[in-house]
Amino acid sequence: MEQSWKNGDFVDHYNKIYSMKNDQIANYLECLSLNSDDVFIDFGCGNGDMLFEASKIVKLAAGLDMSEDQLELAKEKTKGCANVQLIKSDFLSYNPGDLIFSKASARKSLHHLTDDEKVRFIGKIAPFFKKDSLFLMEDGIFTFDRSETEEKLPQIMSEAEVYYNRKWQNIKEDFTHCILHEFPTGINLWEKAFASGGFEIINRHHITCFYARIIAKKVV
Ligand SMILES: C[S@@+](CC[C@H](N)C(=O)[O-])C[C@H]1O[C@@H](n2cnc3c(N)ncnc32)[C@H](O)[C@@H]1O
Repeated sequence: MEQSWKNGDFVDHYNKIYSMKNDQIANYLECLSLNSDDVFIDFGCGNGDMLFEASKIVKLAAGLDMSEDQLELAKEKTKGCANVQLIKSDFLSYNPGDLIFSKASARKSLHHLTDDEKVRFIGKIAPFFKKDSLFLMEDGIFTFDRSETEEKLPQIMSEAEVYYNRKWQNIKEDFTHCILHEFPTGINLWEKAFASGGFEIINRHHITCFYARIIAKKVV
């Protein structure tokens, strides 16, 4: 199957296998301590599940995605939520205008940018985050440098088999494609990217050697 966000079958396949259950979303969003003053953005909001949960708490919940199919699902999911704004854009072209964010999330989305693009993206959106803002990310983040991917492949694959457990046979192909042909990268690159925008990584949890949840705080 063509792994493209323009391919409706792939979008369905992704959402069926990788969508988070409500309790997982609640556990994830807890890291951001969302409150009613927050202006929140979900970069790569996909089908809108996370946006919907965040919108119950925050002042404004913006969801950005470049996929028409995903945004259609997000629109349906957040129908009637007056504080939700859906934005069709790719990450690098996005201009928030007069929005100033206090909280952000990007789950399994920013690995679609190359390492240079990640640095550019954080630098570009940073001015739209106020001091002390939190940016939560969960994605393909290696404990090692991206240049070591090939050498670390046996370790990655064996940890993935254990981590995904019964789902593994079903997702092995997507996973391998992501590791080899998309741009998961080292925590060192993310430190550099966030630092370039005035953020500091204040919390990191490596679930495996290839996947982590991190929180960056805007310190300037
Ligand atoms: C793997 S899905 C993650 C969706 C959701 N965040 C989740 O946790 O299930 C990646 C999402 O990022 C979007 N995406 C990928 N590259 C993008 C880009 N360059 N600009 C904007 N959205 C992008 C895709 O359309 C897709 O909805």
